[in-house]
Amino acid sequence: MRRLNLLITAGPTQEPIDPVRYLSNRSSGKMGYALAQAAQKKGHQVILISGPTNLKPPVKVRLIPVTTALQMHQEVLKNFKQADVIIKTAAVADWRPARFSRHKIKKDRKNLNLKLIPNPDMLKTLGKIKRKNQLLVGFAAETHNPLLHARQKLIQKKCDWIILNNVSRKGIGFESDYNQVTLLSHNGQTISLPRMTKKKLASKILEVILSS
Ligand code: CTP
Repeated sequence: MRRLNLLITAGPTQEPIDPVRYLSNRSSGKMGYALAQAAQKKGHQVILISGPTNLKPPVKVRLIPVTTALQMHQEVLKNFKQADVIIKTAAVADWRPARFSRHKIKKDRKNLNLKLIPNPDMLKTLGKIKRKNQLLVGFAAETHNPLLHARQKLIQKKCDWIILNNVSRKGIGFESDYNQVTLLSHNGQTISLPRMTKKKLASKILEVILSS
């Protein structure tokens, strides 16, 4: 087996509003960390770029901690060239506050309008610049019309695989130790895996994508 370089992103990003507040999402980072550990156990070299989580860093994995989507974007671009496989499990904030208030915003005002501006879509950028021998894998977190939206992401972001997880179902997905996913490939394969722990799932996902 060839030893591969894997670049994995995980966790949420946090987009600061002021020194005490931020915008974020419910991602725990568990799926990305499980993938990083499973890949390392299979003998691959792994860089894990992670937003803030409460998880222990996986052993023998190079962890690059980041906070914001822009920081994650920068680190991904820095480490992208050497990667054979890129897996983007991170739940990147699509928007960030247009301005950061250096002082805590006080509540002595009637209302507060936050202007948000879009963050770059890393997966889409990578889809445009990736080499033929690089495998690009994205995740799709969906709550409705999951297959349709996941297929759209596969095409629009020019991935080799999109891993769909339906985050509206109880007991899987965000924060849970379990997940149930469907893998969609750019050449039309659809592989549905049963509900299982994220650790087991990580190993299965790697088996499928690395033999493709
Ligand atoms: N992604 C990314 N950069 C972003 C947003 C998402 O790289 N700014 C990646 C995620 O890491 C994931 C994939 O794109 O691999 C899909 O993310 P998801 O949150 O499901 O979808 P979005 O592209 O953000 O679209 P929408 O929020 O409209 O569903």
